[in-house]
Amino acid sequence: MELRLKERLGRKFDEEIRFFKGWMDGPKRVGAICPTSSITAKRMASVIDPSSGLPVLELGPGTGIITKAILEQGIAPEKLTSIEFSTDFYQHLVRTYPGVNFINGDAFDLDRTLAGMDGVIFDSVVSAIPLLSFPMERRIALLESALSRIPAGRPFMQITYGPVSPIIANPDRYRIKHYDFVMRNIPPAQLWIYTRG
Ligand SMILES: C[S@@+](CC[C@H](N)C(=O)[O-])C[C@H]1O[C@@H](n2cnc3c(N)ncnc32)[C@H](O)[C@@H]1O
Repeated sequence: MELRLKERLGRKFDEEIRFFKGWMDGPKRVGAICPTSSITAKRMASVIDPSSGLPVLELGPGTGIITKAILEQGIAPEKLTSIEFSTDFYQHLVRTYPGVNFINGDAFDLDRTLAGMDGVIFDSVVSAIPLLSFPMERRIALLESALSRIPAGRPFMQITYGPVSPIIANPDRYRIKHYDFVMRNIPPAQLWIYTRG
């Protein structure tokens, strides 16, 4: 087998072991049963507009597959802030993606987690937070807090595995659009976009 392919498979296996360990520590917090596929990660990152010059906010990076896709979309590491609750995942991310502003904190409390970044406007938000593990009021509060940090019309991108939007409709406050259904993901993934205004 070609050496590069062997290295790639080895790295993929490491990611899966790391993910499984994270899942064992807190299955509800990790949500998914496997790391996100690179195809899904690319689809999620494709909504980012690097030409805006604005930083990007990522929520729940896990092993960093979506982080990698965001960087490959043309976002400099220094322009990416990424919030991960698990200290084990966080330490791995800091080692793997130098320069990214990783924060070991809670995405449901952005005021506290992003303290010191008051007034910062992001281009968009890319989230893999397992929303279905949390009550609806908390999902809505997280969405609205994140939307207040990006310009009107710019996307909050969310991955989920259920058949419907993980956040209920409230047309007076935000809009919901189904973005994609990605079969090549375990389990197949639904991508939703939320915007304000
Ligand atoms: C579905 S996994 C992300 C998978 C990731 N895309 C990957 O392929 O490795 C969800 C991630 O959200 C993190 N998470 C859960 N609750 C969180 C919270 N309140 N704040 C920040 N991260 C959280 C989990 O620790 C986990 O890493």
